[in-house]
Amino acid sequence: MASQTKYLSLAYVAALAVLLCFCKASSLTETEALLKWKETLVNQSIVQSWVIPASNSSNSTTPSPCRWSGIVCNDAGSVTEINLANTGLAGTLHDLDFSSFPNLLRFDVKINYLFDTIPTNIGLLSKLLFLDLSTNSFNGTLPLSFANLTQVYELDVSRNNMTGGIDPRLFPDDKNQPMTGLLGLKNFLLQDNMLSGRIPEEIGNCKLLTLLALDGNFLSGPIPSSLGNLSDLAVLAVASNQLSGEIPANIGTLSKLTDLHLFINKLSGVVPEGLGNLSSLTVLHLSENNFTGQLPPQVCKGGKLINFTASFNHFSGPIPTSLKSCSSLYRVRLESNELTGDLEQDFGIYPNLTYIDLSYNRLQGEVSPKWGKCQKLTLLGLAGNSIVGKIPAEIGSLSQLVVLDLSSNQLSGEIPAQIGNLTELSTLSLNGNDISGPIPEEIGALLNLDSLDLSMNRLSGPIPKQIGELRDLRSLSLSQNNLNGTIPFQIGNLVGLQDLLDLSYNSLTGEIPAQLEKLTSLQSMNLSHNNLSGEIPASLSSMLSLVAVNLSYNNLEGPLPDGSVFSSNQSSAFANNKDLCGKVQGLRPCNALSTDKGGGNKDNKLVVAIVAPLASVLFILFAIIGIFVFTRWRKSRRESRVGFISRRDNPFSVWYFNGRVVYDDILKATDEFDDMYCIGEGGSGKVYKAEMQGGQVFAVKKLNMQAKDFGIGNVKSFSNEVKALTEIKHRNIVKLYGFCYEGIHTFLVYEYMEMGSLAKILSDEKEAKEFDWVKRIQVVKGVAHALSYLHHDHVPPLIHRDISSKNVLLDSEMEAHLADFGTAKFLKPDSSNWTAVAGTYGYVAPELAYTMAVTEKCDVYSFGVLALEILMGKHPGELIAQMNSRMIEEST
Ligand SMILES: *[C@@H]1O[C@H](CO)[C@@H](O)[C@H](O)[C@H]1NC(C)=O
Ligand SMILES: *[C@@H]1O[C@H](CO)[C@@H](O)[C@H](O)[C@H]1NC(C)=O
Ligand SMILES: *[C@@H]1O[C@H](CO)[C@@H](O)[C@H](O)[C@H]1NC(C)=O
Ligand SMILES: *[C@@H]1O[C@H](CO)[C@@H](O)[C@H](O)[C@H]1NC(C)=O
Ligand SMILES: *[C@@H]1O[C@H](CO)[C@@H](O)[C@H](O)[C@H]1NC(C)=O
Ligand SMILES: *[C@@H]1O[C@H](CO)[C@@H](O)[C@H](O)[C@H]1NC(C)=O
Ligand SMILES: *[C@@H]1O[C@H](CO)[C@@H](O)[C@H](O)[C@H]1NC(C)=O
Ligand SMILES: *[C@@H]1O[C@H](CO)[C@@H](O)[C@H](O)[C@H]1NC(C)=O
Ligand SMILES: *[C@@H]1O[C@H](CO)[C@@H](O)[C@H](O)[C@H]1NC(C)=O
Repeated sequence: MASQTKYLSLAYVAALAVLLCFCKASSLTETEALLKWKETLVNQSIVQSWVIPASNSSNSTTPSPCRWSGIVCNDAGSVTEINLANTGLAGTLHDLDFSSFPNLLRFDVKINYLFDTIPTNIGLLSKLLFLDLSTNSFNGTLPLSFANLTQVYELDVSRNNMTGGIDPRLFPDDKNQPMTGLLGLKNFLLQDNMLSGRIPEEIGNCKLLTLLALDGNFLSGPIPSSLGNLSDLAVLAVASNQLSGEIPANIGTLSKLTDLHLFINKLSGVVPEGLGNLSSLTVLHLSENNFTGQLPPQVCKGGKLINFTASFNHFSGPIPTSLKSCSSLYRVRLESNELTGDLEQDFGIYPNLTYIDLSYNRLQGEVSPKWGKCQKLTLLGLAGNSIVGKIPAEIGSLSQLVVLDLSSNQLSGEIPAQIGNLTELSTLSLNGNDISGPIPEEIGALLNLDSLDLSMNRLSGPIPKQIGELRDLRSLSLSQNNLNGTIPFQIGNLVGLQDLLDLSYNSLTGEIPAQLEKLTSLQSMNLSHNNLSGEIPASLSSMLSLVAVNLSYNNLEGPLPDGSVFSSNQSSAFANNKDLCGKVQGLRPCNALSTDKGGGNKDNKLVVAIVAPLASVLFILFAIIGIFVFTRWRKSRRESRVGFISRRDNPFSVWYFNGRVVYDDILKATDEFDDMYCIGEGGSGKVYKAEMQGGQVFAVKKLNMQAKDFGIGNVKSFSNEVKALTEIKHRNIVKLYGFCYEGIHTFLVYEYMEMGSLAKILSDEKEAKEFDWVKRIQVVKGVAHALSYLHHDHVPPLIHRDISSKNVLLDSEMEAHLADFGTAKFLKPDSSNWTAVAGTYGYVAPELAYTMAVTEKCDVYSFGVLALEILMGKHPGELIAQMNSRMIEEST
């Protein structure tokens, strides 16, 4: 009996204890669960407030997490919200015990660095209303247990497509910061680091969903038809995935749907007609899929459609009838389909429309004057249709227009003078039509123009000199018209021209204006098939960026200018002229002497430019008095060289020999290399900024050694080496103008890059922030272009050997230029195996350490590291080591 009571009392005590524990259980375990998770989130400021106050207080209530940052509790002290959006969290969710939070309503960890899979037990949050895991690096598949979140009304798991973390400085407090521009990086990213697999059919269980966002992942398979059961759904965003199959027909029954984002997938088939019944629809994105059939005719039934894209599909049939009166439209993209319709009859007046691209369809009719009433338009794209008639003068009232593309149609009549009203215009493409008459002078008012293409029309009369006002122009094509008169010298004022100057296939006469020499950024110039006469101005050799030139089919005569583009072996570029001469195959040499044996020497080019007009005379003299003349010629050559240099505005095209005058100028510009002008320092020497008298700016790298220290017995082979480097002309490679090894100073002269090195920008808080995704992708692309050029287009292939963020320089446009290329080779002549010293630690491919074999692959490896660095904002450091060790583990 006694023992019985004893047992009973024991049981009682035990039960009491259990009960006590239980009472406090929820709150205690919530605290514990959070602390346990915190332990895995080392050094993260946001969770620093997550501490239990020193338990000296007499009131022994449970430590509560309710005051911790990011945590919200209900009156009973139980956690209802975890809000840690955009707080720099890095880690996984695996150590967060979701079962400990029975009252959690809201879990928001968007925009962080969380990775690995989404834990299945997240489905235990049975009361959850709001779940946002977007913009992290979760991978694996969507957990089926989402189906148990039956109360949830917003579920956002979008944009888990980043790897290796993202530079936090790119995400200012604005939570909706768009992350455009990363598209091109996709190739560098591993699928392993994205959410993939199917969208579980079971999500149809979450009956209360109003928002389901899964865009920007690597999800595949079909859109589950169970989504058609989510009758409250307003936003369905599954864009930028790998989804295939058709749109389930019952999506058309979701009467509350306002936003449907399906763009960039592999969806096919016909768009269900039901979509036309969705009277709340404001945003419909169908672009970049493989849809066929017609667009739903009633797509703007509710009159609320704002953004509508269906571009790059196979849609055929008419423009949806409801679009005509759809005055709510803001942005429309239907380009690259097979749509039919009439530009005048099937479209209305859209007061809010800012962007409409109907290019590359089968539209007919005229550009009616009523398009002039879409006053907000910034882009009007009608290219590649069958549009006829004149360009209406009313187009001049689209004062906000930035892009006007009417190319490849059958437009006729003249270009209206009112085009001069479009002062915001940046791109004007009227090429490939039947437009006649003169180019209006008013075109000179388009001061923001970046690209002007009027080619392939029937334009006549002169090129208006006002075209020289377009200082921002990067590309100008007037080819294949009937333009006559001379080339206005004002074209030389278009110093921004970069991509193209094409005046070919016209009836232009007169001489090529010497002012074109100012186009030092131009890469391609075509003046062929005209009636140009006279000599090619020698000054054109200062067009240093030129990589392609075509002057064929004119009446030109005399010598070709100096400069590599004019001596490249493309005789076709100069064929069919009156009497051109030069060292190009197919042209007669200007001076028989220039083929003289000793003249493998580069000085000859200069001589050619000067002496060429006298070539024939000299030839005769030579025949008569042989050696006597030969010695005289050598003398005159020396004299002319010096004279030539001092006369030139830009001496650097001849830089690889000891240009004494230039040498002095550099010394003067840098005050004999005063530290005041120093802009950087590297292993081989300091870099100075040299602002020359003419206003030109160069970066001068003064080497720590002197010429005699080079240990290069063969100065000639050395200077050949430098010469080869100076001849590399690529938009993404820093130009090396030359090398000076005379006197006590030895230095290299480079193109000056305003923004400095990538390393500098990434390490500067402010600059890194301004260095947005679009610019970053541009830089990665630029470096890729440069490498591709060096490895594949250059003969012989060249290996950089030292790709790093210090060696990527940026110009004022933030365009990347690879620097310090090829110089490692002769700057470290002492080391017998110089591969040992090339390369920057942290960028060198691991195999290089073992094999010492330098191949293109080493550059590619370093490039990969660089790309990660640009993406993450800092050198990937340990991440790389981890990747390497993982590879080694796997291979063992
Ligand atoms: C318990 O602690 C809280 C906060 O530290 C304090 O406000 C409260 O007065 C304490 N209660 C008792 C009974 O000491
Ligand atoms: C959903 O919850 C029930 C009971 O709570 C459980 O049996 C089931 O396994 C859960 N489903 C998933 C997919 O987790
Ligand atoms: C997810 O990422 C982690 C590390 O980030 C990796 O270990 C794991 O294999 C990945 N899982 C999948 C399914 O890709
Ligand atoms: C990630 O998703 C976003 C949003 O859909 C998309 O804009 C971006 O290009 C994607 N990034 C990659 C690397 O695919
Ligand atoms: C698109 O669909 C057509 C047939 O409709 C098919 O032939 C083609 O392969 C598809 N293309 C893609 C990229 O899926
Ligand atoms: C429509 O598209 C523009 C440009 O992409 C965007 O800024 C705007 O927010 C969109 N409007 C709606 C309602 O989605
Ligand atoms: C145009 O946009 C304004 C502001 O967004 C809006 O108030 C107005 O209703 C729109 N007009 C039409 C016709 O939808
Ligand atoms: C062009 O601009 C002028 C002045 O801004 C204006 O008076 C004229 O009406 C405009 N022409 C057209 C066709 O819009
Ligand atoms: C240019 O052509 C027009 C007709 O197209 C003609 O009237 C004019 O005289 C020509 N000018 C020159 C300089 O040939």
